Amino acid sequence: MRDSKPELVLDAAARAARYLAESDRPTFPSAEAIAALANFSAEVPEGPTDPAAVLDQLDRLGSPATVRSTHGRYFGFVNGGTEPAAAAAAVLASTWDQNVALPVMSPVAAHLDALSARWIVDLLGLPAAAEAAFCAGASVANLTAILAGRDALLARRGWDVGADGLAGAPPIDVVTSAEVHVSVFKALRAAGIGRSAVRTVATDDRGRLLADELPAIGDRTLLILQAGNVNTGHSDPFAEVIPAARAAGAWVHVDGAFGLWAAASPSRRVTVAGVELADSWATDAHKWLNAPYDAGVVICADGADLRRSMAVDAAYLETTAERAPMHLGLQMSQRARGVETWAVIAGRGRSGIAEMIDHTCDQAERMAAALAAGGAHILAPVVLNQVLVRFGSPDADPAGDAETDRVVAAVQADGTCWAGATTWQGRRAMRVSFSDTSITEADVDASAAAILRCANR
Ligand SMILES: Cc1ncc(COP(=O)(O)O)c(C=O)c1O
Repeated sequence: MRDSKPELVLDAAARAARYLAESDRPTFPSAEAIAALANFSAEVPEGPTDPAAVLDQLDRLGSPATVRSTHGRYFGFVNGGTEPAAAAAAVLASTWDQNVALPVMSPVAAHLDALSARWIVDLLGLPAAAEAAFCAGASVANLTAILAGRDALLARRGWDVGADGLAGAPPIDVVTSAEVHVSVFKALRAAGIGRSAVRTVATDDRGRLLADELPAIGDRTLLILQAGNVNTGHSDPFAEVIPAARAAGAWVHVDGAFGLWAAASPSRRVTVAGVELADSWATDAHKWLNAPYDAGVVICADGADLRRSMAVDAAYLETTAERAPMHLGLQMSQRARGVETWAVIAGRGRSGIAEMIDHTCDQAERMAAALAAGGAHILAPVVLNQVLVRFGSPDADPAGDAETDRVVAAVQADGTCWAGATTWQGRRAMRVSFSDTSITEADVDASAAAILRCANR
């Protein structure tokens, strides 16, 4: 088996290269390709199959049923593509199969994990002493940071969650905006903080928390802010809110799954001004940075806060290493996510990362201008990589909702590009999200034409 591995890897690489070269595949798989997935055996095979045949089946049945989120005309959710250097690094790294839990398990994984974590802190303009750790995604990063914030607030009041748990602990209250991402509520639930402990603050029509409406904040408060609303790309007013909250003893966390990357562009940094003043941040490498799935990042201004909540002891896992990923996050065994992220940053450098952010923002503006010129309604000014569009009437009325849903369905059936739907402040809308850096002006023009064709049909 071991002897046949090199041929198999070459075969897999050749198939991957063919997949990349097939530019005429639809953005979303055909009904036939999806139906053909039934040809994967439903039962556990009773015996072995030649690995080459396994790979062939995967490519034959699997490749046609993929969503081409890496091919320039995919505007769904906030699903980034993959940078060429990172896609190639992933092939090598998956062959290495390194576990980055402890440095002794893989010196190279540990080295690149630490290096890319530090580079991310640097690129995002966060405090140089901040500690970053990779995890499965921004949802897990939010959870990790919320656990660290909860434990830090309680530790300041002399309560040790590790020793005494939460029963009888001083209550923690949460303040956040009405537009906070749903993953934050999932994280709060997992952290033992229910919705009744959460006070939500109203937002403006772009999804930004209204600073004037903040309730009293004290030293039991977790204030959770957002860099990059998932529908509009707008961010909370960090500079206005964070200093006073921290002075009152609150822990301030920022969910910046994609929007935090605005800080890596000198021209877009202004949209997240003051974000560096927080205690913790969550972001993703697999969205706007275009690292492969899955790669989230949790960052704490003081790494000791992360360790308080995440570090564990076991004789067989003892380490003298300064940095061991298993003590910085929820996972022990984990993929060496830092390797692919290192490849993206090493390949692009600081200027290339800024260019990638600016390019996608520019394409979003180009799309918004084309759609507005064609009679569509843009529901929020485009500041980053999200375009929110409504058809029919701009106002909250059932006819506009129905027309918008009709256009979204028609666009998805047309197949030129793919965009999803949402409800924005009581109105149905189409989300056109720019996360894949391979999107070209030609992609935008062809996609805008297709969307308008569907709208005017
Ligand atoms: C603002 C925000 N926070 C959190 C998440 C969750 O990220 P993930 O899917 O990586 O867990 C998203 C996903 O789109 C998001 O936009």
